[in-house]
Amino acid sequence: MTQYDVVVIGSGPAGYIAAVRSAQLGLKTACVEKWRNPDGELALGGTCLNVGCIPSKALLSSSEEYEKTSHHLGTHGITVKGVAMDIPKMLKRKDAIVSKMSKGIEFLFRKNKITWLKGHGKFAGRNDVGILVAVDGDESETVVAKNVIVATGSNARHLPGLKVDNKIVCDNEGALAFESVPQKLGVIGAGVIGLELGSVWRRLGAEVTILEALPTFLGACDDAVSKEAFKLFTGQGLHIHFGVKIGEIKTSAKGAKIAYTDSDGKAQTLDCDRLIVSIGRVPNTQNLQLDQVGLAVDERGFIPVDGYCRTGQPGIYAVGDVVRGPMLAHKGEDEGVMVAELIAGQHPHIDYDCIPWVIYTSPEIAWVGRTEQQLVAEGRKYKSGQFPFAANGRALGMDSPDGFVKVLADEETEQILGVHIIGMAASDMIAEAAVAMEFKASAEDIGRICHPHPSLSEAMREASLAIYKRALNM
Ligand code: FAD
Ligand code: NAI
Repeated sequence: MTQYDVVVIGSGPAGYIAAVRSAQLGLKTACVEKWRNPDGELALGGTCLNVGCIPSKALLSSSEEYEKTSHHLGTHGITVKGVAMDIPKMLKRKDAIVSKMSKGIEFLFRKNKITWLKGHGKFAGRNDVGILVAVDGDESETVVAKNVIVATGSNARHLPGLKVDNKIVCDNEGALAFESVPQKLGVIGAGVIGLELGSVWRRLGAEVTILEALPTFLGACDDAVSKEAFKLFTGQGLHIHFGVKIGEIKTSAKGAKIAYTDSDGKAQTLDCDRLIVSIGRVPNTQNLQLDQVGLAVDERGFIPVDGYCRTGQPGIYAVGDVVRGPMLAHKGEDEGVMVAELIAGQHPHIDYDCIPWVIYTSPEIAWVGRTEQQLVAEGRKYKSGQFPFAANGRALGMDSPDGFVKVLADEETEQILGVHIIGMAASDMIAEAAVAMEFKASAEDIGRICHPHPSLSEAMREASLAIYKRALNM
């Protein structure tokens, strides 16, 4: 039986990064992965790479270019005629990016001498050496490891009784692969996937209607940002209905008919050619045989872990979407690094308050730390400063005046508690805020640091100065 220092189950961002860091630290490492793409090929990279972050961002970029070229170049004095979208080519480009990235992980595994155990991994008890992991694949085997890192990720939550065929009724997998633009697209759930993928297909010409159960959306965002987002997204043509209760959904080869009750209690129906169900994700522990090593999931299906991703069972850790915390690739990656370093005897640490979030709509939404409503609920005294991109020269030059930066700081110490951005390139700008918060910077620190001009980043400085009522350009 082959022995390893570390066996990782799952090669999504949490798992493959845990494997790479373990190998970098001199640990003999294997990673079990069973993912098969629609063509039957085994692939590394998990949800993020195959049907999540990477393909969705490729389609967001393609559709953004199309919309910009079709509708927004006139303002620069550019006339464009005969703009057309080749959907199969767009999908091919996305698939090529995914394939390149997945092969990139294979390369990293070879470079770091990580063994890819191809198949489904599950616990099979312990022996004198360590933890037994059985791998069911074309060539089944059982290996033994001193440490096991569970990184089995998550799956899309489905509506009870509604079959997802990924043709008419789709989760993220089908929604990333429509071979033509639906005329009418229905989306259930105005969360991150609904807004990102709803935006993709709206930009390409679909009439998109999103049905959301809650009375508002983007509950994790600062209220000021979600209000601005609602104004901008509906202005772009997304139809969003809040407070709905989904009833019967009838499907046929041509589409879906969704019966629902609106926020006034009135019965409504939505007819669409395709339906995306994006109502959250559930941790994946299917057939892991956790009981073989004394583990069990919590009431929400997550593997319980402490702040260091330790399960309580010696030598067994769990990271990424299968444990508590935001379901974000970079959160999983950081947990993977932390656990590998713990196993190697180091003293790593993650500040979960400093994990940034990004929603890749247009404009983008990004934040890190506390929202204003959280601070109010906590009874914490704070100061707030906000600066609009409409007063930023670079944003105007780029024809992207929408949105703002908002900085929240402790009233007494002025330590930054949260930064909220809605605007172009918010995904990149938020990194400055994350660094500042990790270093416990005050708003004054950001206000005193020289930022390049003209740049979008000046809005971060101005919002920090606005806390002291001394923004320079407002
Ligand atoms: P996963 O990526 O889900 O990987 C788990 C892997 O484990 C899979 O490959 C699976 O096959 C394998 N596995 C499971 N069980 C077994 C087993 N028993 N044996 C062997 N292998 C097994 N996050 C962001 O931060 N930014 C984004 O822009 C972003 N966009 C997203 C867009 C979409 C459409 C979706 C669906 C998600 C997006 N996410 C994004 C979330 C992100 O994809 C997840 O947070 C991330 O993939 C979680 O990583 P993970 O390694 O925990 O799990
Ligand atoms: P989500 O949790 O973001 O949003 C789900 C939405 O569906 C919520 O607004 C919820 O109120 C609503 N909902 C739930 N049940 C419903 C019902 N029966 N009827 C109507 N509405 C209902 O989940 P989503 O969009 O599926 O994404 C899953 C996760 O994937 C995200 O939470 C995030 O962690 C990750 N992700 C991250 C991205 C990023 O970082 N840019 C992009 C896409 C996904």
